Amino acid sequence: MSGTIQRNWFDQYMVPCFSPAKFIPVKAKGSRVWDQEGKEYIDFAGGIAVNALGHANDELKDTLISQIEKIWHIGNGYTNEPVLKLAKSLVENTFADKVFFCNSGAEANEAALKIARKYALDKYDSHKNEIISFENSFHGRTLFTVTVGGQPKYSQDFAPLPQQITHLPYNDIAAIKAHISEKTCAVIVEPIIGEGGVIPADPAFLKALRELCDQHQALLIFDEIQTGIGRTGYLYAYEETGVEPDILTTAKGLGGGFPIGAMLVRQHIAEVFQPGSHGTTFGGNPLAAAVANKVIELVHQPEFLAGVKERHHEFLQRMSTLNQRYQIFSELRGKGLLLGAELDKKYQGKAKNLTNIAAEEGLIALIAGPDVLRFAPALNIEQQDIDDGFSRLENALKRFVQE
Ligand SMILES: Cc1ncc(COP(=O)(O)O)c(C=O)c1O
Repeated sequence: MSGTIQRNWFDQYMVPCFSPAKFIPVKAKGSRVWDQEGKEYIDFAGGIAVNALGHANDELKDTLISQIEKIWHIGNGYTNEPVLKLAKSLVENTFADKVFFCNSGAEANEAALKIARKYALDKYDSHKNEIISFENSFHGRTLFTVTVGGQPKYSQDFAPLPQQITHLPYNDIAAIKAHISEKTCAVIVEPIIGEGGVIPADPAFLKALRELCDQHQALLIFDEIQTGIGRTGYLYAYEETGVEPDILTTAKGLGGGFPIGAMLVRQHIAEVFQPGSHGTTFGGNPLAAAVANKVIELVHQPEFLAGVKERHHEFLQRMSTLNQRYQIFSELRGKGLLLGAELDKKYQGKAKNLTNIAAEEGLIALIAGPDVLRFAPALNIEQQDIDDGFSRLENALKRFVQE
């Protein structure tokens, strides 16, 4: 049954910086979503790598309800129990010594970039202010983070932009070796470029970044906003690489669907942020922190993470079978449950058409740029949902090649 709330209200009342699907999801459970008409979708998008435990997870729901009955918001003039517990857990489970909480990925990166500049200013001098980032990277939509991100289309209309930001080719050790200097205060990198095409970093590249940052007293920032919280089969992707950053940013899956972000840092860096240096009204909110504690408790289990790796193989194998049949993709790549399928040249620019057809067939999927189909499903997606999702994907691929 159609709701009285209409999709065209989006066009009438909302700033048109999105182009949402024609249907309105109204209900979701696990990896299934239903729209206003009662049509069912399998969710291979996970709310853009956010719903790590699927929709309406019972344990997250119970945690949220129990926190709702205690305290919702108090502000950072006070601390609160859930946020203290979450900070302790993130420190105990990672390289970091200290945590700053915020509400989104962009804010976590904003904090990371600001603390890196301030660290260099306090410990060295004002000339050490260059930030190196990589082409095609994505770090958020604040002015600083769009400028640092390596996709000029997101920053070019907002000049004047923050200065002393350099973009180098990703996975190119020679390029950074040639460029990095004593003026560099930080290098920021996604262990897998997410939005920009699902491109995993070469382990040797990350290792070289670590060595070069150490040689030039620059901080290494890993943006794990998309790759964190079990997404690659590890709590954080850096664990697999053998390279530890100085700063790590996390958001998306951390709240399992409840907005929260965090910046994790080493002690000597944390110290440069004193009361007044940086802040937020909502960051560290007890509701978000309570849910995030439960997310980490459920995700950071060997069996759970092993399940992500198993599903990775199943997804890749099924993608590859379909590709043998329909010859649509030139490459299948990614780690854990962050997967990308690059469209063959003859379908260039058509990733969005493919996800639109998939939605008509009852499958929600993502793109990563105009040429890459991306999957970032719930990390606990069930077998039946995988089976049904791939059968709907096959229907979509069949139509895609015909159309
Ligand atoms: C790697 C990465 N960094 C930062 C962001 C920005 O996060 P948010 O949209 O929560 O601000 C994203 C979002 O897609 C991301 O994938």
